[in-house]
Amino acid sequence: MRVIRNLALLALMSAPAVWAQSLFAAASIVAEQAPQEVWWKHAVIYEIYPRSFQDSNGDGIGDLNGIIERLDYLQSLGVDAIWLSPIYPSPQVDFGYDISDYEAIDPQYGTLADFDRLIAEAKKHNIRVIMDMVMNHTSDQHPWFIESKISRNNPKRDWYVWRDGKGPGIPPNNWESVFGGSAWKYDPTTKQWYYHKFYAQQPDLNWRNPAVEKAMFDAVRFWLDRGVAGFRLDAIPTLFEDPQFRDEKPLGGTNAFGDPILDDNYTNDLPEVHDVMRSLRKVVASYPGNRVLIGETYLPNIQELDKWYGGASHNELNLPMDMLIGFIDKLDANLFRERIDDVETKIHGNQPLIVFDNHDNPRSWNRYGDGVHDDAIARVLAAMLFTVRGTALMYYGEELGMVTTPPARVEDVKDPVGKVGWPKDKGRDGERTPMQWSDSTDAGFSTAATTWLPVTPDYTTVNVQTEEANPNSMLNWYKKLIEMRRTDPALHDGALTMLDRTNPNVLSYLRKGPPGSPSVVVALNFTAQSQTVSLDLAGIGLSGNSVKTLLTDAPSLQSATSLKQIELPPFASWIGSVQ
Ligand code: GLC
Repeated sequence: MRVIRNLALLALMSAPAVWAQSLFAAASIVAEQAPQEVWWKHAVIYEIYPRSFQDSNGDGIGDLNGIIERLDYLQSLGVDAIWLSPIYPSPQVDFGYDISDYEAIDPQYGTLADFDRLIAEAKKHNIRVIMDMVMNHTSDQHPWFIESKISRNNPKRDWYVWRDGKGPGIPPNNWESVFGGSAWKYDPTTKQWYYHKFYAQQPDLNWRNPAVEKAMFDAVRFWLDRGVAGFRLDAIPTLFEDPQFRDEKPLGGTNAFGDPILDDNYTNDLPEVHDVMRSLRKVVASYPGNRVLIGETYLPNIQELDKWYGGASHNELNLPMDMLIGFIDKLDANLFRERIDDVETKIHGNQPLIVFDNHDNPRSWNRYGDGVHDDAIARVLAAMLFTVRGTALMYYGEELGMVTTPPARVEDVKDPVGKVGWPKDKGRDGERTPMQWSDSTDAGFSTAATTWLPVTPDYTTVNVQTEEANPNSMLNWYKKLIEMRRTDPALHDGALTMLDRTNPNVLSYLRKGPPGSPSVVVALNFTAQSQTVSLDLAGIGLSGNSVKTLLTDAPSLQSATSLKQIELPPFASWIGSVQ
């Protein structure tokens, strides 16, 4: 089981429509546009792991100029915004999530001038750029931490979380790092311990110190001034820790690192974080153009997720990620129906952000695939991602059907957690392999003799060039879905209503068309058996049985005519308009 998922699981174990523009009356956020014009509400946001996307200078590592070279591709796919995982200067222990300077670019990836060019070129392609912002911790090589370590009375001492141990060699409490072992590291110079939720090279900032907030908000302004469209906030629920530093409760059992599994009440999702989110929202909303705040929010339930929007006040994050749908990890139609219903009805009309893939989890191809119908299953997930009512977040290579390729040998592991957790947890290299552009050397990713992670062997067939030429490829499935979502009024903004609610095998729903436009029905077979469904619109107060297929991967369904009898082959996807 994967590290970041452990965090999510702990969260799960520990706890069980229309936007009201008037609620945004506060002067500081009047710059936001009317909700119907907000770009991110209908966006497809594409996560790029810059190290692995496109290498432009032959060193085996992707870079900003490489991303610029691929903007035409991203535009042809239909992407509205790219989120770049961290490109700031960093010792790269956690591949950029350990930042040593918040206001510069790591030379591995380019320069600030390259970054400015990326923003400008992306704009020409109608693509916005979203930065990753890591506020929970810095690198241990950040000047703030280097100062903080000097002495107990250094002015930066209180920027981090320092505590006395319980005795010689005994940390202050039982808190554990997400990446294994104690979350405390002893500093022999000052004879105290510092807290690190993640790697020891990622000391946690002390958000109870107002100077930390000020410094971090200055960094936010630095990038907003340069024209970024917003931020993805890394590990944001972990900003605060219990002020009494109480031990976490053991839940029984051990994790992949052999550590006891603990509750996370005192180290995750503390209420204080919401004050920071409200302040941050004001900073971001004071800029024109509807900049967006996205959160990495693994949460136990929909009620907790709603809080991250600010609930009915809509004054925290615009798009906290819904990890409750995309990480179900089994095709259970009832569970998907329930979770989609939840975002429809329990988040105060806020906008859902649906996601199946990222750089921390095995690709959905492998998490949902059964080894036999993987391609069809991936199409079901994509059909859902782009046809439910929500903003869609995707991860590079997902559109090709790229697979998770973990290292074969521990000595090849790059992600430190994979060395600690080997072989139970092989780390996250498997979902970070280079983008597969073509069947030429290094899959067109690089010209280097070796790339930072090896290219997955299936690149000779799974690649952009080959798939562009095949009308039935996964890439063209994605393109058609994204195009349909952009152009079809029902899919664009129509209300979602579940159909055939008690069917345990098929997920089906309707997106209501505005007056004069047909509604759209989606039916997805979640099983390896053929399923026949009879969908009844009268039950939801609508009329019409005649349908016309808009998109399907089942040739037999191309000519479907009636909602009364839709015969879905195993794991088939069908999208049709009601005539
Ligand atoms: C987030 C990132 C992950 C990183 C961790 C610590 O979960 O997505 O890649 O290791 O935070 O910054």
